[in-house]
Amino acid sequence: MHFPGGSEPRLVDAAAKQLSTLPFYHSFWNSSTKPALDLAKELLEMFTATKMEKVFFTNSGSETNDTQVKLVWYYNNALGRPNKKKFIARLNSYHGSTVMSASLSGLPPMHQNFDLPAPFVLHTDCPHYWRYHLPGETEEDFSTRLANNLEELILKQGPETIAAFIAEPVIGAGGVIPPPATYFDKIQAIVKKYDILFIADEVICAFGRLGAMFGCDKYNIKPDLVSIAKALTSGYIPIGAVLVCPEVADVIYSESNKLGSFNHGFTTSGHPVSCAVALETLKIYKERNIVEQVKNLSPKFQDGIRAFSDSPIIGEIRGTGLMIATEFTENKSPTDLFPPEWGVGAYFGAQCEKLGMIVRVVLDLIIMSPPLIMTPTEVDELISKYGKALKATEERVKELKAKQT
Ligand SMILES: Cc1ncc(COP(=O)(O)O)c(C=O)c1O
Repeated sequence: MHFPGGSEPRLVDAAAKQLSTLPFYHSFWNSSTKPALDLAKELLEMFTATKMEKVFFTNSGSETNDTQVKLVWYYNNALGRPNKKKFIARLNSYHGSTVMSASLSGLPPMHQNFDLPAPFVLHTDCPHYWRYHLPGETEEDFSTRLANNLEELILKQGPETIAAFIAEPVIGAGGVIPPPATYFDKIQAIVKKYDILFIADEVICAFGRLGAMFGCDKYNIKPDLVSIAKALTSGYIPIGAVLVCPEVADVIYSESNKLGSFNHGFTTSGHPVSCAVALETLKIYKERNIVEQVKNLSPKFQDGIRAFSDSPIIGEIRGTGLMIATEFTENKSPTDLFPPEWGVGAYFGAQCEKLGMIVRVVLDLIIMSPPLIMTPTEVDELISKYGKALKATEERVKELKAKQT
C-alpha cells in the first residue's frame, strides 16, 4: 500500500545503513555518536530566529517538554533563584502526555482523574479570537487584553516565582488556533520584562507545516528554548529535541561541571538510527524545497476549504499553511453548539471516510493536516471530498432539525 509521504526509500536506507554500521550507543557521560553530533550541528544551523547553542535529544515531544521543565529548574537553581520555578502555559494548548507535559497542556481532559496539573503550572488565556473576543474588539485589542491579563497574572504570582512561558506558535491539537494579529509581539514584551524564559513548542509547527521552516520564523518569535519532534524524521522513527540558547546552555554547563555531571537523559536519547533518519529527512526537505512548496500550495488549500465558510452549519474555518480546522456550530456562533447526541462532527468524518479520506474528528471540530508533499491535484481531490461530505452533513442536520420540531 502506498501511504503519501510514507514510502520514502531514502529514509528506509538511512535507517538500514545506520543499523548495520552502529545500531546503538548511549549519550551519557560525555559520550555520543556521529549521527547525533551531526544532527545537533545541522539543527543549530537551521534554527535562525535566535541563536541556539546546544541540543538535547529525547524520544518524543512529551519527553522534550518534560526536559524543558527540568532544564529551566536546573538553570534557576544554578543562578541562585530557587523560587523562580512556575510555568505559564495557555488554555487549549497541548504539550504532551507525561506528568509535566500534560500539566503544561491546557486541556482539562488531560488532567481529569490524573491529579494534574501539577501545582507549578498556571494557565493563561487561549488566544482564539473568534471564540473569546469581546463585542467590537479588534484582533489587536484582543491581543493587548491577553497580554495585559498575562502581566496581571505574573504580578499577582510575583515575577520572581515565574520561570518560563510555553507556547505553540499555532495551537495544534487544541483546535488549530493561529495567533491573532500582534499577539506574540505583545506577549514576548511582557515575558522579557519579567525575565521569564520563552519556550516555543514547535513539535507540530517545525519543518514546514506552516509554510516556514519554523513557526518562530513565521511569527517573529525569539525563544530561549525550542521543542521539536514529529516531522524531524517525518514521523518515520521516534525522536525529539530541545534547542537551548547560549545563556541557558552556559549556566547549565558550568553548573554541571561544578556538580561533576549533568544527570538527565534517556537510554535512547540521540539514538544513532533516529539521528541518521533525521539527517536524511532534513536533507530531503532542503533538496525538494519542501518549505517553499508548502508556502506555494497552502493558499490553494486554505482558500479551497475556506470557500465553504458560508455553510449554515459551519461556525469558523481557521488555519494556516497545511493545517486547518472546521468548527461546526449553529448560527455562526462560537457558543451555539449542536446537541452532542447529533454527532455532527462524527457524521462528517464518516462521510469523508466513505469517500476514502481520513480527517481528525474532535467532537464537532474537524482537523486536517495533510502531507507536506501534497500535489495541487491532490488538494483539488481533498477539497472536492470535503465539499461532498459537507453537503451530506448539511442534509443530515436539516433532517435532525425537522425531527426536533
Ligand atoms: C505541540 C505538541 N507538543 C508536544 C506533543 C507531544 O508529543 P509526543 O506525542 O511525541 O509525546 C505534541 C503531540 O501531539 C504536540 O502537538
